[in-house]
Amino acid sequence: MASEGEDQKTVYTLEEVGQHVAQDDCWMVINGKVYNLTSFMDDHPGGDDVLLQVAGRDATNEFEDVGHSKAAIEQMQDFFVGKCPQVFEKAELLSVTEGDLAIGGSASPPAPTNSVGIWSKILQFLVPLVFLGIAVAIRNVGKKDPEV
Ligand code: HEM
Repeated sequence: MASEGEDQKTVYTLEEVGQHVAQDDCWMVINGKVYNLTSFMDDHPGGDDVLLQVAGRDATNEFEDVGHSKAAIEQMQDFFVGKCPQVFEKAELLSVTEGDLAIGGSASPPAPTNSVGIWSKILQFLVPLVFLGIAVAIRNVGKKDPEV
């Protein structure tokens, strides 16, 4: 339809999508797919301004935040022009970085921290016990004395 003649498997980079940010040339990426919404600007029930705000970039969050109807999601196909796997690669990179940070933040220090943690727990348990033992012993000694 709108993308007639376009290769459905065309792969675009975010930089390429980023060159279409005008009222008369508006592209965006939603869920890794590239949409050319130029012909939809005037007809979009949510208005053209919201589309322009996210033009040229990944608009997945904004699209999903609205909670578009099934009909709207079906309508998207009319504007599909290709894919932008870079969006997912970017997301993966971010999650890997976060993972690395999580591992890095707890991998090297934890060994000593953990063993210290175990000892402090054992001590927390043992010290009151020792004091209790001493208290009982002193009490018993005190009791025995008058009997003798
Ligand atoms: C291919 C992309 C899009 C299509 C085909 C589309 C289609 C539609 C349709 C059919 C509606 C009417 C309500 C419904 O059926 O859900 C709508 C409403 C709306 N859309 Fe989109 N939309 C697209 C992208 C976006 C994006 C990227 C945004 C946000 C940046 C957006 C924001 C809105 C808003 C705010 C409304 C009004 C919601 C309301 O009044 O309740 N849309 N859209």
